[in-house]
Amino acid sequence: MEDHGVSSFAAPLEGLSALVIGGGGDGIGRAVTRAFAAAGASVAVADVVADRALAASLELTGNGAQAVPLIGNVRSMADLEGFVAQTVEAFGKIDALVTVVGGQVAFVPAVRLHEMVDEDWDLAYEMNLRWVARASRAVIRTFLAQGFGGSIVSVGSVAGVMAAPTQAAYGAAKAGVASLARTVAAEYARDGIRMNVVTCGAIATAVANAEPDPDGVPEIPMGRLGVPDDAASAVVYLSSPLASYITGQSLVVDGGVSVRGPFS
Ligand SMILES: NC(=O)c1ccc[n+]([C@@H]2O[C@H](COP(=O)([O-])OP(=O)(O)OC[C@H]3O[C@@H](n4cnc5c(N)ncnc54)[C@H](O)[C@@H]3O)[C@@H](O)[C@H]2O)c1
Repeated sequence: MEDHGVSSFAAPLEGLSALVIGGGGDGIGRAVTRAFAAAGASVAVADVVADRALAASLELTGNGAQAVPLIGNVRSMADLEGFVAQTVEAFGKIDALVTVVGGQVAFVPAVRLHEMVDEDWDLAYEMNLRWVARASRAVIRTFLAQGFGGSIVSVGSVAGVMAAPTQAAYGAAKAGVASLARTVAAEYARDGIRMNVVTCGAIATAVANAEPDPDGVPEIPMGRLGVPDDAASAVVYLSSPLASYITGQSLVVDGGVSVRGPFS
């Protein structure tokens, strides 16, 4: 029987080369870079803020991991292609892409639909879906040229699964990311290329302007906000050979919010 990687529970990403776009922040991206390094991967940390990419990369190399900082903007196709090429240059190959950059509050105002202007709709769409599709195109071309498959994991949101009041464009874009993952899964399954989404609920990060509440969060069945590591561990799992038969899926990491019924 073929070994699907179950022998790699201890270091599930050992020997893999990963590109994390948006890995330099303090939130989910940084947690992903730390988790990837701990799981054995070489990590290219890409971010538009040079200091963030450098700090995250230095932290990893300081702990004995292989890492490189990459500076660029996800709004540029040339930068996205550069991220993939520089990852291959640094580590000899690329096995995994993680797309982190996104959000609404970081980019456009939170308003109801009738107050939203086209420019904000377009920017929310660009920062949450368009660039993810472009980065996926860039890495898929390299995966196909390398010939041994690869994984894409996108950080999504329950805003793309449930209603997203004052975040219509964000919710629609995140729903689009889940759709993109299903299409990539179907189009490239025979090439060994997988794409999945980690669909986050409320994660306590500086961007989300939320601190873990010691008194608990009654709206969340588990009674607490998520922490970046909750998302990062799901990203590691889906990027690893442990998930080699999983593609086109959205793994919801939300403390039970999206399954809560009216009486629960
Ligand atoms: N925090 C939450 O509650 C929550 C909930 C659901 C989904 N998410 C998703 O998590 C992701 C972001 O996670 P986070 O808030 O922890 O952020 P983060 O701090 O981990 O990283 C965001 C990084 O993206 C970088 N960035 C911003 N614009 C860029 C650009 N144009 N080009 C390149 N890099 C750029 C920033 O410099 C920052 O380092 C988003 O996709 C968001 O939709 C977050």
